[in-house]
Amino acid sequence: MTTQSRIGIVGATGAVGTVTLGLLAERGYDNVRAFASARSAGSRIAFGEGDLLVEEATPEALGAGDVDLFLFSVGTSASRELVPVASAAGAMCVDKSSAYRLVDGYPLVVPEVNGARALEALERDRIVANPNCCTIPLTCVLKPLHEEAGLARVRVSTYQSVSGAGAQRMDALAHEDPTRHDLVMDWTWEGDDSDEEAKLRAETRKILELPELPLSATCVRVPVMVGHSEAVWVEVERPLSPDEAAELLRDAPSVRVLDLPSFPTPAAAAGEDEVLVGRIRRDTAAENGIALYLSSDNLRKGAALNAIQIAELLLEGVAAQA
Ligand SMILES: NC(=O)c1ccc[n+]([C@@H]2O[C@H](COP(=O)([O-])OP(=O)(O)OC[C@H]3O[C@@H](n4cnc5c(N)ncnc54)[C@H](OP(=O)(O)O)[C@@H]3O)[C@@H](O)[C@H]2O)c1
Repeated sequence: MTTQSRIGIVGATGAVGTVTLGLLAERGYDNVRAFASARSAGSRIAFGEGDLLVEEATPEALGAGDVDLFLFSVGTSASRELVPVASAAGAMCVDKSSAYRLVDGYPLVVPEVNGARALEALERDRIVANPNCCTIPLTCVLKPLHEEAGLARVRVSTYQSVSGAGAQRMDALAHEDPTRHDLVMDWTWEGDDSDEEAKLRAETRKILELPELPLSATCVRVPVMVGHSEAVWVEVERPLSPDEAAELLRDAPSVRVLDLPSFPTPAAAAGEDEVLVGRIRRDTAAENGIALYLSSDNLRKGAALNAIQIAELLLEGVAAQA
């Protein structure tokens, strides 16, 4: 039974880690340990009806070989230090930072889109990367459109909640006047693009296995607590009507289409597992263009839930090999 596997959550006290613990408890996992930095080691954290001791995520603790699978949500530099130690001790590792996402040979997985890739990790060092919180819902929507009509190019504008930047930013928003919140692009610059925009392009290309896909993005942080939204303009190679696109998306796994007068919002998406998609209409500025709008819970499908789905593919893969 995969729910009896020994699971370690590294970064358990953070925005993603706490949601991960909640989802694991809901799914019936009961052999779970919580790890974080020395700052919160020794404290206790809620898990199901009870709580867990928070252990310090030292290389010695993660390298002890007594955990089957780790879910990491600690940031890129801590992942670069800790994931190899856990992997060397034989554990499977799902990493939510950008440490491994674009490194050749490491699967970057959205289970509904390219789940089979996760099992390749079992033939190597058992490390799978979880994509960026905007890439995951975008690829869930692009995959069925590509299979039917062929993607020619994609333009995206994102509206990303502060929980995407961690628990401290959530606390800051809770205590500030939202009318004075700066609508910032709070990433670093890679040429003319932010690193977030560059990640969205490169990760989407890797997951869809379309290395040349033209994809232009503008990513913006907005004063919303949970829920990332994206306005998406898709050009396809073969004609596709908005009604046909909506039907494809209605059949797509983990996608829920909303028809007017309903449309996706962060509030509607928060706490939900599915990617909400609506406003599906013709893009009148392009010959074969579809415009749509999506919202998804960045802490669930954008991070914790997607990582748990990857973990379950790995655990099932190992069980099948046994
Ligand atoms: N938030 C999202 O929507 C989202 C989506 C996708 C991916 N991610 C990625 O997930 C990771 C975590 O994000 P978050 O939003 O949960 O951040 P967060 O709220 O700031 O939480 C960070 C967690 O990592 C722990 N930590 C920090 N440095 C550590 C170290 N050196 N050793 C061990 N533990 C350490 C913290 O422990 P303490 O409490 O002890 O400080 C805390 O549990 C990042 O890589 C982020 O890019 C986030």
